[in-house]
Amino acid sequence: MDSKAILSLIDLALSADPRTLRMHLHKVAVQASHYDPVLSEKILARLTANGLRSAQPPKPIPVDSDSRLNLVKVESPVVMDDAPIYSEDILALLDQVVLERKSASKLMAEGLSPAKSLLFQGPPGVGKTMTARWLASRLGLPFLTLDLATVMSSFLGKTGNNIKAVIDHASSFPCVLLLDEFDAVAKRRDDDRELGELKRLVTVLLQAIDEWPESSVLIAATNHGELLDPAIWRRFDLEVSFDLPSEKMRAAYIKTYWPELIKHANDLAHFFGEVSYSDIDRSLKKAKKKSILSESKFITCITGVAETTPGKKFELKKKDVIRLAAEGMSQRAISVALEISRPTVKKIMDQYEECKEA
Ligand SMILES: Nc1ncnc2c1ncn2[C@@H]1O[C@H](COP(=O)(O)OP(=O)(O)OP(=O)(O)O)[C@@H](O)[C@H]1O
Ligand SMILES: [Mg+2]
Repeated sequence: MDSKAILSLIDLALSADPRTLRMHLHKVAVQASHYDPVLSEKILARLTANGLRSAQPPKPIPVDSDSRLNLVKVESPVVMDDAPIYSEDILALLDQVVLERKSASKLMAEGLSPAKSLLFQGPPGVGKTMTARWLASRLGLPFLTLDLATVMSSFLGKTGNNIKAVIDHASSFPCVLLLDEFDAVAKRRDDDRELGELKRLVTVLLQAIDEWPESSVLIAATNHGELLDPAIWRRFDLEVSFDLPSEKMRAAYIKTYWPELIKHANDLAHFFGEVSYSDIDRSLKKAKKKSILSESKFITCITGVAETTPGKKFELKKKDVIRLAAEGMSQRAISVALEISRPTVKKIMDQYEECKEA
């Protein structure tokens, strides 16, 4: 793009004439498709998403009766430049959801419903929240988040009403609603006096899943699927289990999200070991800051920083387990010495034996 074109775009943006600006940006996207197709796609995605602003929630966002704070976070439109990295299985599941949603009228004409309630489970930092946003962006719908851990911290009687208000709101227009930290409901079992209220809350949630309209998507995300009531599990149309990324997926993540490290992506993916994307993200950001402040090379700062990430620490412990076992120490003694559970020690040794045999 030449400087004249840049200046005329700035003039248009400042003159607040959105229609002409959109037309010009469209032209820029078409021109860019010849020399930078990725940039062209990103411009077009922004134009499309921006055109969806009319899909803003029609009613006011529900608020907490005491604090008057919004009960849900709303993002509309959702623009994401890069797709999250997925295993083939999960990508196929998510593509199927998008296809069903986009062909909803076809399915409904035959008496079938598109997938409308999804349960995401898996360890922290592997993309549950990101995927819910990604689905909203692919479907061109506003993205609403209700953090159950936050609402659950208030007086339970009020929680039921708050959750109900959010669900009623989100059911009233097409959107994606994420119930984040879904296990928070299951976790609060500590006080018998609250049991009645809690049961009422679970009933509110079950009813919400059952009565959820076809026009919206309800996603519940949890780190602890095992804590959920089986009655809740059964109600979801689809469960998606996210895992820690494989080495290949870690390399793909670094190549996409950290293009300046593209040359080292395979080595780094191996070096980080079995950690989550957010562990890698945190380590790389820390290393990047260090490299800027100490004026040294990014790649040389990564090794030191990565050793301190929790996932990496665990990875390093794996080596210790194997070393101690080779020295003849029992699994019980290793578990005590390294402060990790016995089943974990066993799992590491089993994996190690399998690798040796292969
Ligand atoms: N599949 C992925 N592809 C690319 N980046 C990812 C992916 N998953 C996670 N990340 C990175 O990790 C960050 C945290 O991810 P996210 O919040 O989606 O994790 P989560 O599974 O919801 O974790 P939690 O259980 O802690 O809520 C993201 O902002 C992104 O930088
Ligand atoms: Mg999350």
